[in-house]
Amino acid sequence: MIYFDNAATTLKKPDGVAQAVSDAIMNLGNAGRGAYDASLHSMRMAYETRELLNELFNGEGPEQIAFMSNATEALNTAINGMIQPGNHVVTTVMEHNSVLRPLYLKEQTGVALTVLPLDENGLISSEAFEEAIRPDTEAVVCTHASNVTGTALNLYRIGEACKRHGLHFIVDASQSAGILPIDMQAMNIDALCFTGHKGLFGPQGTGGICLRKGITIRPLKVGGSGIHSFDKEQPQFMPELLEAGTINAHGIAGLNASLKYLKKEGLEKLYTKEALLTKTFYEGVRRIEGVRVYGNFDQEKRAPVVSLNIRDEDAGKVSEILWEDYGIATRAGAHCAPLMHEALETTEQGVVRFSFSSFNTIEEIKQGIEAIRELASE
Ligand code: ALA
Repeated sequence: MIYFDNAATTLKKPDGVAQAVSDAIMNLGNAGRGAYDASLHSMRMAYETRELLNELFNGEGPEQIAFMSNATEALNTAINGMIQPGNHVVTTVMEHNSVLRPLYLKEQTGVALTVLPLDENGLISSEAFEEAIRPDTEAVVCTHASNVTGTALNLYRIGEACKRHGLHFIVDASQSAGILPIDMQAMNIDALCFTGHKGLFGPQGTGGICLRKGITIRPLKVGGSGIHSFDKEQPQFMPELLEAGTINAHGIAGLNASLKYLKKEGLEKLYTKEALLTKTFYEGVRRIEGVRVYGNFDQEKRAPVVSLNIRDEDAGKVSEILWEDYGIATRAGAHCAPLMHEALETTEQGVVRFSFSSFNTIEEIKQGIEAIRELASE
């Protein structure tokens, strides 16, 4: 199999990740719930993982990271917990339903949305964000990179505008964490929502929110925290404020191992490989007659994604043939990003998405290009 669906989940994980999960299942107790070794080991491992994440994202402290099951839970928490009814929010057509659906629920409480379109280059400028800001704007909620095209937003400049206008800045890092540099402090990000199982190479069921200090946020769920058990209220400090119930320490142990791998290799080195794979594939397919590639490939840094169609062939059918006849795994269809498909005019056809990781090889890329060449010539 050639696996080109890394934007959905990375299948090949670094050595040591699976073993860490297995060891954790056999050895870890419930973090923060006991004074015996198994519980303390779990708590220490979770804290070390918070430290690794805090370092990776340049957050404001390990305790500002709350573990959740995925970016969707983190985004629901941030959007529900930080945006007041009746205010205005700026977002984009690039968003995944994990941003759009919580925002549509907010609309029912009187929140007004401005959804920024793509410009003629398939980008959204930071000026467009700034122009959309109104006196009642409370927050900007946006992705770092599109899961459909890989196109990235300039978080430094958007965050700078948010800071100048006193707005909350909530970021969906699903497609960028572990791939593109993220600096919460330099980007003025208030809530960074991430998943563990994509570019971070951890297990599914891991992820969370990295919150700036001093941000007021209401939790989405409340419950056991291991401390202050007689209080009716959830502890009001991080991470317990956003971590009701037992954390997924088994999964987090895998994430701990994958974060150590990322730290050892360095993001820059891994990105250089991902960018080479992406560029080679893009250059290889873009001139094939009948192939249409979506997105902007002039950006210096973007997610390692190339989406395409072959003439008016249904994307699902092309993806199926790629799998059945070539053993190439891709994702087809609407990718849970409805507004992006409207913008690309692919609501009916969908797109065939190829998404790469640093574990892919140039040889695999060449096979992918040849498969598209053959399919386009039929
Ligand atoms: N959000 C994931 C994707 O883009 C599942 O495939």
